[in-house]
Amino acid sequence: MVKRQAEAIKIDLQQFAVENAEQLEAFRMRFISKKSVVGELFGLMKDVAPESRKEFGMIVNEVKQAADNRFKELIEQLENTKGQTGEMLIDLTLPPVPNELGTIHPLSLVRNRIIEIFERMGFNVSEGPEIEDDWHNFTALNFPENHPAREMQDTFFIEKNPDIALRTHTSSVQVRVMENEKPPIRTLSPGRVYRNEAISARAHCFFHQVEGLYIDENVSFADLKQTLYHFAKELFGPETKVRFRPSFFPFTEPSAEMDISCDIDNPKGCQLCGGSKNICKGTGWVEIGGAGMVDPNVLENSGIDSEKYTGFAFGMGIERITMLKFQIRDLRLFSENDVRFLRQFTSANL
Ligand code: DAH
Repeated sequence: MVKRQAEAIKIDLQQFAVENAEQLEAFRMRFISKKSVVGELFGLMKDVAPESRKEFGMIVNEVKQAADNRFKELIEQLENTKGQTGEMLIDLTLPPVPNELGTIHPLSLVRNRIIEIFERMGFNVSEGPEIEDDWHNFTALNFPENHPAREMQDTFFIEKNPDIALRTHTSSVQVRVMENEKPPIRTLSPGRVYRNEAISARAHCFFHQVEGLYIDENVSFADLKQTLYHFAKELFGPETKVRFRPSFFPFTEPSAEMDISCDIDNPKGCQLCGGSKNICKGTGWVEIGGAGMVDPNVLENSGIDSEKYTGFAFGMGIERITMLKFQIRDLRLFSENDVRFLRQFTSANL
C-alpha cells in the first residue's frame, strides 16, 4: 500500500513545474514541509507493525530524498529563468547610472608632484614604519638624551623602556636608508608623522612630511641650495626665489630654514594670499621646510664613513605646501573627508 503511495508521490514530484516563487513555496508545502504528503507518510510509521517498519522506513526515506532533490532542481531552474527574464526587462534606452568617481586627495596630488620633481633629479622613493623605535626617531639623529622633543607632551609613546613611539618626523627614514644602503644615496621619503599637538587650523596631531637625503662624495651646501631652488621653481613657478635662514636641527650642521618668495608686490595680488598678506605677514617670504648638511655623527651612527662622504638632507610639510599651493586656510579640512572640499581638486593642475 505504502509502496503505491510512494510511487504516486514520486510521479507528482516530477510533474510539478514552477514558474515563480509562489509556486516553489507551494511545492515546498506539498512535498517538503511537516504537513506535506511526505510528512504524513512519516506520521504513519507509528501504526506500522514492528517487523515491517524497516521496509516502510526505507520507502518513505526514498520519497523524501526524491522530494528534496526535485526541490533543489526547481530552485535552480527558477534562478536561471530569473536571469533570462531579468535581461529582457532592461530598458536600453535609459541613461546609464553614473559611476561615482572619487578624486585624488590634494595631499596625494602634491606628494606625487613633489616625487615627480625629485625623481627627475635622480631621487628614488623610500618608506619607513610609522611606529618607530627611539634609535631611528631620535638617538641616531643626534638628539641629546634630554631633548624636549622626546618629552611626553610632544611625542606619542607606545612603550617606554625601550621607547617605541609614533614617529615625529620622516627623518627616521634617513637612518633606515643609510643603514641598509651604500652611497651614493639619493632618496625621498614621504609619509605620515604624529605629534601631540592641540588640533587647530594650523596644527594637527598627524600630518605629512617629505624627507630628502643625498649622500655621496663631495656633496656641498651649494648642491643643497641648487636642488631646493630647482624644486621651488618647478612647484611654485619660475619666478620663485628661495631664501635660507640659519637654524638648528640636531641632525644637520649647518642647518637652515628654507623660505620661498611670495608675490607680495604683484599689483594683481599674490598667488598665495591674493593680496591679503596674511600668509607672509607682510615680509614677502614663507617658510616651507628645514634643511642642512647631514651631521657627521648621524652618518657614523648609520654606518657611513663621514671622512669619505658628505650629504645634505631636507624636510618639508606636505600640508603646508598644499595650503600654499591651493590657498587652503584650515588644515583640518584635509582629514574631514568632506566631499565638497575634496571634489574641488578633480581637475587640479600642478
Ligand atoms: N625633521 C624636521 C622636522 O620635523 C625637518 C627637517 C629639518 C628635516 C632639517 C631634515 C632637515 O632632513 O635636514 O621639523
